[in-house]
Amino acid sequence: MFSQLQHPPADPILGLSVKFKADSNPNKIDLGPGIYKDEAGHTPVLACVKIAEDFRVKNEASKAYLGSAGSASFNEKIAQLILGDHRVIAENRVRTVSTPGGTGALRIAAELINRSKPGATIWVSDPTWANHQGVFKAAGLTVKTYPYYDYANKSLNFDGMIEALKQIPKGDAVLLHACCHNPSGMDLNPEQWQQVADLSRDVGFTPVLDIAYQGFGQGLEVDAFGLRLMADTVEQMIICSSCSKNFGLYRDRIGACSIIGKSVIAADIIAAVMLNVVRVNYSMPPAHGAALVETILSSQELTNQWHAELKEMRDRIAAMRQLLVEKLLENGVTRDFSFIARQNGMFSFLGIDTEQIQRLQDEYSIYVVGSSRISVAGLATSNIDYLTQSIAKVL
Ligand code: LMR
Repeated sequence: MFSQLQHPPADPILGLSVKFKADSNPNKIDLGPGIYKDEAGHTPVLACVKIAEDFRVKNEASKAYLGSAGSASFNEKIAQLILGDHRVIAENRVRTVSTPGGTGALRIAAELINRSKPGATIWVSDPTWANHQGVFKAAGLTVKTYPYYDYANKSLNFDGMIEALKQIPKGDAVLLHACCHNPSGMDLNPEQWQQVADLSRDVGFTPVLDIAYQGFGQGLEVDAFGLRLMADTVEQMIICSSCSKNFGLYRDRIGACSIIGKSVIAADIIAAVMLNVVRVNYSMPPAHGAALVETILSSQELTNQWHAELKEMRDRIAAMRQLLVEKLLENGVTRDFSFIARQNGMFSFLGIDTEQIQRLQDEYSIYVVGSSRISVAGLATSNIDYLTQSIAKVL
């Protein structure tokens, strides 16, 4: 049965964590996976999550199945978090299912597209999250790319993006990062979002919005601006969201796949197919993380606490972006890295070559994804000198 199997290549992001854990250098720095870390290099359980967990232990009355959509109350609250008070909610055109993390949401979205149009093409930004292509192809989709990042100028290649989007055949899907673009940290501004949304309506491609870092860029509302603008402009879209980062619920695996239908009836049909996709995949989503988010978002006090904790994470990352730029200069690096301070969310490309990335790993135990993507959340005032001195040496 298994004799034909070959070892797959190591995952470019998760494979790095394995190497990092095995490294005995006390100065080692993990700039790999997008996991928030505090100044001490620790990924804390948020205090509001701890309170919600205590509440759940004391009050959970049953472990009976919740159904393929998961908790209706969680789904409603997540739709509100993403869409705010957008009219599509009042028009009853939004349907949400809880999923095992944001990756689960992407897989459900991909299978939904594939049910509607087998082998359909989804366009992803070049570059994009290292797992997007794999998830979409595994669901049967064809994946193509549109230009996004200008590596030479460390900026957005917006003209290239627009030219490519204009050529997309009607009925294809286009994946867009709602905020905190992973891996480049370059986001669209409001005017650019409007242009992309207008193109989606006029060209007729279906937008799939991936919002995995809401609250890590400029704040919960600003980070959802482009997504909401898209919902103003097009009749139907898919939204894949995650509670891994903003609620720190990484291993509890909770996210959501939401669709906006053209009408109430259309939304009902899409939702029914989505539920069937879930049923034949994993039947029902895990409930724990959803229950915690539901508890937090049901209490004004816990919501306020969550906002404050989220702000603390966001502010620390922004401060680390500034500090990295300053310390590189201080350590004699003449190359311009100021773009890092202008980017958003957890990630930026250092823009160094493969050999330099390998030297950082082999000689200094600094772990950077092979594309030169760094997770800024891995920086701290305690490791910034070692990091910037090491970068100065390999440069
Ligand atoms: C990342 O991009 O590092 C995170 O989304 C973690 C992952 O699953 O790859």
